[in-house]
Amino acid sequence: MGIWTATGKTTTLIKTQAVQSFRFSWFPVLLGAGFSVAFILQVTNDPEVLKSKEENNKNKWPDINLLPHTTEGDLIRYGRELIVNTAAYFGPKGKVAAITNGMNCQNCHVMAGLKPFGNSFSAVASTYPRYRDRSGRVESIEFRINDCLERSLNGKIIDSNSNEMKAMVAYLIWVGKDVKKGEKPAGSGITEIPYLSRAADPAKGKSVFESKCVRCHGSNGEGVMLVDSNGYMYPPLWGDKSYNVSAGLYRLSRLAPFIKYNMPFDLAQSSPELSDENAWDVAAFISSQARPDKKFSQDWPKMETKPPDYPFGPYADRFTEQQHKFGPFIPIKAEIEKIKSGIK
Ligand code: HEC
Ligand code: HEC
Repeated sequence: MGIWTATGKTTTLIKTQAVQSFRFSWFPVLLGAGFSVAFILQVTNDPEVLKSKEENNKNKWPDINLLPHTTEGDLIRYGRELIVNTAAYFGPKGKVAAITNGMNCQNCHVMAGLKPFGNSFSAVASTYPRYRDRSGRVESIEFRINDCLERSLNGKIIDSNSNEMKAMVAYLIWVGKDVKKGEKPAGSGITEIPYLSRAADPAKGKSVFESKCVRCHGSNGEGVMLVDSNGYMYPPLWGDKSYNVSAGLYRLSRLAPFIKYNMPFDLAQSSPELSDENAWDVAAFISSQARPDKKFSQDWPKMETKPPDYPFGPYADRFTEQQHKFGPFIPIKAEIEKIKSGIK
């Protein structure tokens, strides 16, 4: 059975101990325990996920409960709180400032950005400041957070010297404190899944959405608000309360892997539930729906650095906005590479 391969070592150990110390009367109980362990760990054959689990065992993320109650510890805890309950501080009824759409950072950075493949923050401290093609400049962590505030939370930026910004930065640095400079742990950020050979299909995606997503996100993707209407139990996937068209998740190559590794939320925690095809198609469906149309004219100052799935021209290549939005992406990628090698 598949499950024994992943927990094979534990099982043998349990068996040996069972025979030696407890004899056979305990054996069924321990075997049951072994099964439960295997069940809890759940097994996946996805090599990317297995690699990240291995990495996680070596590289334990810091535990917030072990943080000392010092000024620094309190700042980090406040940063985490802002990321988990962003709406309470910055949402339409926010107690610090009413500057966002009411989503939480955690809605897209799962488990406060600790979950591998859940758009995790594990590589932030180790890779920032860094140059990014979207802005064409070296970005600080503060700049990157403000990017998500303006785009993913369709809101306004906050002062880099504010206590809230300092707290979020302190939390992100703490999350990555054991990662070596320049390294990206497996499962950091959003990974990639292979391109389909065809264009992603919103019509097919609609049926995936109806069978797998509606029960939480609602039939109009509107989500479900908390009873005090200060934040969401299930966040919106489109509409005026969702992220805007300049946010990373609007691009299919970011949305599809996020969905594949994290959704449906209750079923995908330890192994993916959707196939790559379903993930691309449902992403195409979501990105076909209306959302805030906020664009930043300074984005992608060099045309040829636009990713294949960036849906707004002008382009250095000859493909349409439609193909840049839904694919097929393989020929676009090949042409962009040709253009770039010509420039170099
Ligand atoms: C609607 C979804 C969404 C929300 C909400 C959101 N983000 Fe993000 N964030 C993203 C995406 C998508 C990326 C890009 C990930 C990638 O391409 O690997 C990103 C990237 C980041 C990064 C850079 C990560 C890296 O490794 O380069 C930081 C830091 C970040 N977000 C912080 C925040 C903070 C803080 C908040 C809340 C104030 C927030 N985000 C809210 C979607 C979101
Ligand atoms: C069991 C309920 C549940 C189901 C089913 C579910 N989700 Fe989610 N989804 C969530 C929750 C909860 C979050 C926010 C995670 C958090 O805050 O920890 C979320 C977040 C998201 C996000 C990022 C935030 C946003 O609002 O854009 C996307 C995208 C998403 N879900 C897409 C999907 C898709 C596509 C499906 C179907 C394949 C799906 N979800 C099924 C509960 C669910």
